[in-house]
Amino acid sequence: MTAGSELKPVLVFDSGIGGLTVLREARVLMPERGFIYVADDAGFPYGGWEEAALKDRIITLFARLLRDHDPEVCVIACNTAFTLVGADLRAAFPHMTFVGTVPAIKPAAERTRSGLVSVLATPGTVKRAYTRDLIESFAQKCHVRLVGSENLARMAEAYIRGEPVSDEAVLAEIGQCFIEKEGSRKTDIVVLACTHYPFMANVFRRLAPWPVDWIDPAEAIARQARRKVPLVEGAEHPDAFDFSIFTSGNPDFSTRRLMQGFGLAIG
Ligand code: DGL
Repeated sequence: MTAGSELKPVLVFDSGIGGLTVLREARVLMPERGFIYVADDAGFPYGGWEEAALKDRIITLFARLLRDHDPEVCVIACNTAFTLVGADLRAAFPHMTFVGTVPAIKPAAERTRSGLVSVLATPGTVKRAYTRDLIESFAQKCHVRLVGSENLARMAEAYIRGEPVSDEAVLAEIGQCFIEKEGSRKTDIVVLACTHYPFMANVFRRLAPWPVDWIDPAEAIARQARRKVPLVEGAEHPDAFDFSIFTSGNPDFSTRRLMQGFGLAIG
């Protein structure tokens, strides 16, 4: 029997609390591993950042995180970060394995029947060359509408902390995802291309003008991470708590409570 504490932890990274949607799936598949959840809340939201500055910030942050925590793999549970800096992270830290999050455009293109797909993301993800390349490579036969939402990541943070978020405000962000063409063809898939958004999927479903499939890539990301993390026969989860790091150094009360609910101590 191997004590899980002898195993290196899995680091899950996001700008805020959206990466928890990935962490909860990853834990199911890697019960023997400890987890470190890192939220760059001092930089949140990433959606509106200028690209070069955000790149520098994330590379600098990872130099410190890798030195201090020596994880087995890093899961970048953030589309806005990974579509910008995924390749740079791999180049800067060639001995580390990075599992990324990118808009699920390929599965959406394979599944759509109407040929009308929308990608709901941050303004940053929508303007990335990476996102355009995904459409070019995998969705040429579809009509893909990119919807960059200014406010939804913040709203999702408020929502998951139990603060009120009005239906009108949510509808104003998601409404553009729904298109009708030639009278009968309608959007049938919306890709949730920001890890914050699955927290609000129930609200989106309730407010949608017609039913669509909402694609949440969390489980697929977790499966990919599992493939990269060696299975150790007989290993058990370490006794020590999983923990979270907030770059502000000072998460508010409701965030601390949320972390507790996810079984994460504040590091
Ligand atoms: N959760 C992040 C993503 O998947 C972005 C949230 C933000 O910082 O704007 O893109």
